Amino acid sequence: MDKVLVVGGGGREHAIITKLAESPLIEKLYCTPGNGGISKYAECFGVGATDIDGVVQLAKQLQPDMVVVAPDDPLVMGMVDRLRAEGFRTFGPVADAAIIEGSKVFSKELMKKFNIPTAYYEVFTESEKAINYLKQQDSYPAVIKADGLALGKGVIIAQNEEEAIKAVHDMIDELKFGKSSARIVIEEFLTGPEVSVLSFTDGNTIVPMISSMDHKRALDGDQGLNTGGMGTVSPNPYYTEDIAKECMEKIFLPTVSAMKAEGRTFEGCLYFGLMLTPKGPKVIEYNCRFGDPETQVVLPMLDADLYEIFNAIYDHKLDQVDIKWHEGSCACVVMASGGYPESYPKGIPMEGFDDMGQVEGCFVYHAGTKLDDEGRFLTNGGRVIGVTAKGSTLREALDTAYKGVDKISFEGAHFRKDIGQRALKALN
Ligand code: AMP
Ligand code: GLY
Repeated sequence: MDKVLVVGGGGREHAIITKLAESPLIEKLYCTPGNGGISKYAECFGVGATDIDGVVQLAKQLQPDMVVVAPDDPLVMGMVDRLRAEGFRTFGPVADAAIIEGSKVFSKELMKKFNIPTAYYEVFTESEKAINYLKQQDSYPAVIKADGLALGKGVIIAQNEEEAIKAVHDMIDELKFGKSSARIVIEEFLTGPEVSVLSFTDGNTIVPMISSMDHKRALDGDQGLNTGGMGTVSPNPYYTEDIAKECMEKIFLPTVSAMKAEGRTFEGCLYFGLMLTPKGPKVIEYNCRFGDPETQVVLPMLDADLYEIFNAIYDHKLDQVDIKWHEGSCACVVMASGGYPESYPKGIPMEGFDDMGQVEGCFVYHAGTKLDDEGRFLTNGGRVIGVTAKGSTLREALDTAYKGVDKISFEGAHFRKDIGQRALKALN
């Protein structure tokens, strides 16, 4: 029987841990840093997810049979490389492959070189040249992206020249996202429904997971600021079988072989952020990891042993695993702290949970919670929990998830009331 260490501490990691817990091959789950809710399902440690030396030390102490690195930063920083060098079995790409998320310039150049459909773009390191280009294009909205990781905030959709120029100055001259925005990409604005497709890949075989739809804006009706994601539904009704076939042929397989051809074989979860444009599906972004909160609606639909899949990826035998999906739908509604995605308080007491941090009928994935000395749940982050439910239909899944939301309260809590509405319309 195996022991597994998961690195990370959000709703995504909670979803990975509860799915791994179903595996008959695992006897013990560890998580670092974890959070209040995760601590009910895995033994948690105080080492931060970006502390590479600390995680390597912890792994040496715990001797897990596998280390799963879930967040983007440690992957891009090379945590998997270090763990592998110490002889650990791992899940997640090495740094050379994680660059597919770590540098938008890299990913755009990859797509251009291998004819993978994406928005037209130019790269800039000087604000003057970027501004001249914007003036010459004179086309709005304009999409301006920081090259490197920026906590999901490095994309500005500028509605006019003034906003675009400000974004360029903020990024290149003021280094708003540090080194990450010293280089920027300016790209064509695309339209169409967005789809998230996570996939398992061992570098040769790629198995797309069930599709999902994120809701990135803070407020109902897709208003307000961009967030890490306020809710998700799965499957995504816009992602038909025909579109899935087209994506496999024009995007998924070519990406995996492009990475291999570049000497950057990608092993782990490769996330495709797609836009279904009038001219066909195009890549908006790649992530080198499970999405958050996509994972919270995708993994509950998985009808297979996640640990067996992780092992098959490590051993390059993904083609030998039978991966099935449950019928029906899954929905996740994120409850966030008052003020999120800007500044928000922490340490607010939460009501409505049972001892495990759960409510009846749903699964509550904890993202930003902690336990106080008396074992009560307190808020401890912007996105606090993701209340998740399955149903035979999307409507049923949403009704159950919102019933769960009604049972939980904390001062200042806010959540979107229209998660899944666009998907429901698409189904009718
Ligand atoms: P990203 O952080 O790359 O996922 O971008 C955040 C959001 O910005 C995406 O989910 C899209 O809604 C939007 N976006 C990014 N690139 C484009 C584009 N080229 N055209 C239109 N919208 C975009
Ligand atoms: N939900 C989008 C992401 O994980 O990047």
